[in-house]
Amino acid sequence: MTYENLTLEISDHIAIVTINRPKVLNALSVAVLNELLSVFTDLQKITLEVKGVILTGAGDKAFVAGADIASMKTMSAMEADQFCGLGHCCMRVIETSPVPVIAAVNGFALGGGLELALSCDFIYASKNAKLGLPEVNLGLFPGFGGTQRLARLIGRNRAKEFIYTGDPISADQAYELGLVNKVVEPDQLISATKETLNKILNKGPVAIRLAKRVINEGTDLPLSSGLMLEMSQFPLIFATEDKTEGVTAFLEKRKAEFRGK
Ligand code: CAA
Repeated sequence: MTYENLTLEISDHIAIVTINRPKVLNALSVAVLNELLSVFTDLQKITLEVKGVILTGAGDKAFVAGADIASMKTMSAMEADQFCGLGHCCMRVIETSPVPVIAAVNGFALGGGLELALSCDFIYASKNAKLGLPEVNLGLFPGFGGTQRLARLIGRNRAKEFIYTGDPISADQAYELGLVNKVVEPDQLISATKETLNKILNKGPVAIRLAKRVINEGTDLPLSSGLMLEMSQFPLIFATEDKTEGVTAFLEKRKAEFRGK
């Protein structure tokens, strides 16, 4: 797997996907979106090797400063439809990845960049991060899922103010809003993200995968339907070797050795 706009490092079952266009603050061009789509699709095929993903941006200035503005200058409505469709497809593949994906936001996460981070399971940010949906400054509005995912995460009216003003916020403000789960010093961002991912990777992988699916799908449903979804999925875990191992290990007072089966 080789990419022109991304780097992919895999070690100790963790893949680090880094968007690598630092000269334009890692802006999302069609080429970047296509590569993100293919890297996450490829990673799904090797879930035994890759059990968790960190998504970040190259350089110390930006995670991603948005969709590539230059490419939008002469974009027709028809081309915008395709661009938006590609962005949505890419975000959805990340959101539904069978393994946990954490966004490590180092610097600017603006527009499509914040929308990308929102499609991950959760966000860790460096203290110097700035997060925003400034599309209205360009006469646009968020088109890679931001209107929907942000409103569901922080509430409709907070999302409206955020989107209507286009004002970016600091990492600490994003933490207060529940947009970011943890804020750390820039040089500790990847290690803090890895530490949490490693903790998750020691749990039963099938249980994490099912929990992710139930949370993602269920929270879009009325509570009664979400609860039904949980009830329909919970018995499945009893057919796994991991459940037998986890429960047996507890009773034998030893650490469980999960195999993802
Ligand atoms: N697309 C393309 N190029 C971008 C970019 C973007 N989103 N963001 C920054 N760049 C480029 C700049 O044009 C500049 O290139 P040159 O050196 O060739 O001039 C380079 O990256 C460095 O940027 P700045 O010189 O502007 O750096 P700065 O430190 O002065 O400012 C910034 C940083 C505040 C992030 C500023 O670059 C900025 O406001 N960027 C645009 C942010 C934005 O509006 N994002 C939303 C895009 S629209 C979108 O995402 C639509 C959607 O929902 C799908």
